[in-house]
Amino acid sequence: MSLLTPPELTATAADTADVAEVSESLIVLDRTHAELNNPGEDVIAGLGRSPKTLPAQYFYDDRGSELFEQICQLPEYYPTRTEAWILQHYAAEIAQVTNSHELIELGSGSSTKTRLLLDAYRDTLGRCHYLPVDVSGGILGSTVNHLQVQYPEFSIQGLWGTYDQALAYLGTTQAPSRMISFLGSSIGNFNAIECDRFLQKVAAALTPNDWFLLGIDLQKETSLLEAAYNDRQGVTAAFNLNMLSHLNWRFQGNCNPDWFVHRARYNTVDGQIEMYLDCQRACDITFKTLDFQVSFAEGEAMLTEISRKFQLTQLEQQLNRQGLKTVQCWTDPQSWFGLVLCQTQ
Ligand code: AVI
Repeated sequence: MSLLTPPELTATAADTADVAEVSESLIVLDRTHAELNNPGEDVIAGLGRSPKTLPAQYFYDDRGSELFEQICQLPEYYPTRTEAWILQHYAAEIAQVTNSHELIELGSGSSTKTRLLLDAYRDTLGRCHYLPVDVSGGILGSTVNHLQVQYPEFSIQGLWGTYDQALAYLGTTQAPSRMISFLGSSIGNFNAIECDRFLQKVAAALTPNDWFLLGIDLQKETSLLEAAYNDRQGVTAAFNLNMLSHLNWRFQGNCNPDWFVHRARYNTVDGQIEMYLDCQRACDITFKTLDFQVSFAEGEAMLTEISRKFQLTQLEQQLNRQGLKTVQCWTDPQSWFGLVLCQTQ
């Protein structure tokens, strides 16, 4: 295994348990390129709130990323296939309009839908520098391996780290024409304040000729939304509960996932799905490495994720406030999902 790291980075993997899975051509982003933060501080802060919350980033250990890939295949989970439909129909147009030589994908996972974009770039430009970004080293490493075989004419390097780390790193580099993509409506997992902060950082990583391609899930009937987050096979429930196993592993916790059950509901006032883990019995949970203990009451709900559903005009205003101007927007025949292409103003 060889880890490619630029000279200004130190190759200290954040998560050594994932290292065995990593192939070559990964850049390990470390704290040199992100705000310093204390690991687990966000867990302690979230569990101190009322209602208790857990940061959604802890869904994505390797198991969580695998479960999310399964969610994307579920019949009830329409976002992935709807966004793929839009890309199937418009990737060529996106490649022609943007003409970008560098594509950075935030939260790339298996890059399945992105292959539609990569194909379009291959047909239009012949070559491209593709930089998928993910916190899960296992899935990132294997994806980069596969893509290097599938697209030998592209240069492909995985950036292993968080969005913040990747955006900070990009700010230190320059490309003739760059597109940052953020697909799958992952932006919906940020609250309004986090969303503004994130968009600010995206805008800072772009120059006036660069592009930002954003996938967003649009508002629709409650029954469709709730079905997508309460699938019959229980994969979303397993994904939600896996966060507890991940936290146990990461912070030497003693939380028994069997004491919790998954619940998801659509909050029509805030326009967001809310996922909870409801505690079935009163218990005390300790995270040894955080030197932290927390008590749960029977029936207590813990919020693990919001997934905001957007109205296009509102989102455009939010993008505009951060200096990102919508150039074009594509949607599917039912207007369930949108792909928004922006440029810095
Ligand atoms: C990654 N993100 C956009 C997914 C969503 O739909 O909010 C995460 C997810 N949670 C449950 N199902 C899918």
